[in-house]
Amino acid sequence: MIKIFSYKTAEEAGIAAAAVIAEQVKNKPATVLGLATGSSPVPMYRELARRCDAGEISFKEVKTVNLDEYVGLTADHDQSFSYFMFDNLFNHIDIKKENVNLPNGMAADPVAERDRYDAVIASMGGVDIQVLGIGNNGHIGFNEPADHFSYGTVLVELTDSTIDANSRFFERREDVPTRAFTMGIGQIMNAAKIVFVASGKVKADIVEKAFFGPVTPEVPASILRFFKGEVLVYLDEEAAAVIKEKHPDALA
Ligand code: F6R
Repeated sequence: MIKIFSYKTAEEAGIAAAAVIAEQVKNKPATVLGLATGSSPVPMYRELARRCDAGEISFKEVKTVNLDEYVGLTADHDQSFSYFMFDNLFNHIDIKKENVNLPNGMAADPVAERDRYDAVIASMGGVDIQVLGIGNNGHIGFNEPADHFSYGTVLVELTDSTIDANSRFFERREDVPTRAFTMGIGQIMNAAKIVFVASGKVKADIVEKAFFGPVTPEVPASILRFFKGEVLVYLDEEAAAVIKEKHPDALA
């Protein structure tokens, strides 16, 4: 079941999304979280760090699996997703370093790395909450628009649209890696619950397409319509604009 919430600001949407994760971690200290990078989850991570700092929640027993990582960036490169996660969340909470997992973008053997990450995900025994953002082209993780949905970890060629979007974090467009490892759509769909966050005008059309258009691998996020559990969608006013206009009754 999909529930869509719209908030005035991305900050407020992030605080609301964080409350769901905080509740989960309180109820089940050994929670498994699937995590995303990018701008969208930043306010949510900030709020989780604040709650941890305030002693409201602890991540001591939490395990995490991230969705994706660029190929060719070392974990300490300031644009790697590993760096992002430590900088935005892990360094600010009491999680154990050995409990965090990301694909290794520097793996010499990509096939072996895919197998390793599939085994890591399987060893978690199920993701309790998967955090997702959405690309301007509808991607989730780095599952780009395609003619099929894939199940397990994939090594993907990033589309021009994604490279353009992510070039805002790099000095030059040529510096953006062109390949990445991503958790597959099938693995994402295995989570018990999805917390989906998106903000900004640039997401307004694609979020409407994903949740109200046809289910198609051309809009990978549209598969969430077939998700068995709850998909909780936290949008700021700008990202919710097209849904509000076309489906005003759909907003919780
Ligand atoms: C990142 C990821 C991507 C992003 C998406 C949106 O781990 O999985 O799917 O969620 O590219 O990125 P932002 O939030 O930067 O617009």
